[in-house]
Amino acid sequence: EQLRRVLQQMPKAELHIHIEGSLEPELIFALAERNGVKLAYDSVEALRAAYAFTDLQSFLDIYYAGASVLLREQDFHDMTAAYLKRAEQDNVRHAEIFFDPQTHTHRGVPIEVVINGIYRACQDSPVSATLILCFLRHLSEEDAIATLEAALPYRDKFIGVGLDSSEVGNPPEKFARVFARCRELGLHLVAHAGEEGPPEYIRTALDTLKVERIDHGVRCLEDAELTQRLAREKMALTVCPLSNVKLCVFDQMEQHNIMELLDAGIAATINSDDPAYFGGYMNDNFIATFEALPLGLSHAQRLARNSFEAAFLPPRQKQQYL
Ligand code: HPA
Ligand code: ZN
Repeated sequence: EQLRRVLQQMPKAELHIHIEGSLEPELIFALAERNGVKLAYDSVEALRAAYAFTDLQSFLDIYYAGASVLLREQDFHDMTAAYLKRAEQDNVRHAEIFFDPQTHTHRGVPIEVVINGIYRACQDSPVSATLILCFLRHLSEEDAIATLEAALPYRDKFIGVGLDSSEVGNPPEKFARVFARCRELGLHLVAHAGEEGPPEYIRTALDTLKVERIDHGVRCLEDAELTQRLAREKMALTVCPLSNVKLCVFDQMEQHNIMELLDAGIAATINSDDPAYFGGYMNDNFIATFEALPLGLSHAQRLARNSFEAAFLPPRQKQQYL
């Protein structure tokens, strides 16, 4: 119908996409073949059948295994080029792409291979694309600091840092020093918080890490004072509806709280998180959300606008979409 067409055609920005989570099973098998990597699954179908998650950790285990086929700069390039091509089809005009260097450096892949491969694909795409380096929060802050140091020769190739991986038990304040250092370096700051973790993690991401956006953040509604604060401070949340259902943050899309977030005045956005694992890219997320919830045209326009307002883009580049 008409709303569906609007959702598909409207220009949008994607602000929460893990590039390793865009690796489709077909590409995992192709890269495994190219690189002589042995996989624990016999076929694309067997791998896809393993994508039945009960929580964040059950997903992360498979997601890190999938990334093991990435060895050469060309592999990182091809993964990123495939994502950007798919994003273009969904009328994504700008993407801020997360990457997890520690997933690769811990396997012996040099960080310049990771950064140069992803960056080259971004430069070759008609979609505007920038990079956000994420620290794995299940690892130590010392490891994050070493990763930052190793990335600094390539400082001009990423615009910010983020925090992802296993949330519960790894609160934002574990990374206070490395985020303070990134802030001095003029990097943009974001963090996953309030996906599986409590509202308190959203508060410490804001107050201790001084992040400029919250990734997920859907558990904020459990805390009325925090909800009001996020609205008042126009703090954007990069919400990922299909991800939230696949990882059982919400039982069904009908239970998703994105409409309550928007109605509370919060600058929520819709994003795909790990589209190859969670059943859809940007427009799939928009359509699934709007089919399950009583959202209308004004919500669609609000979500698209929020995505550009929350983007780390120079005002002139934003203006053309606002
Ligand atoms: N949460 C935490 N870590 C992640 C995610 C997520 O949704 N996706 C990829 N790494
Ligand atoms: Zn994420």
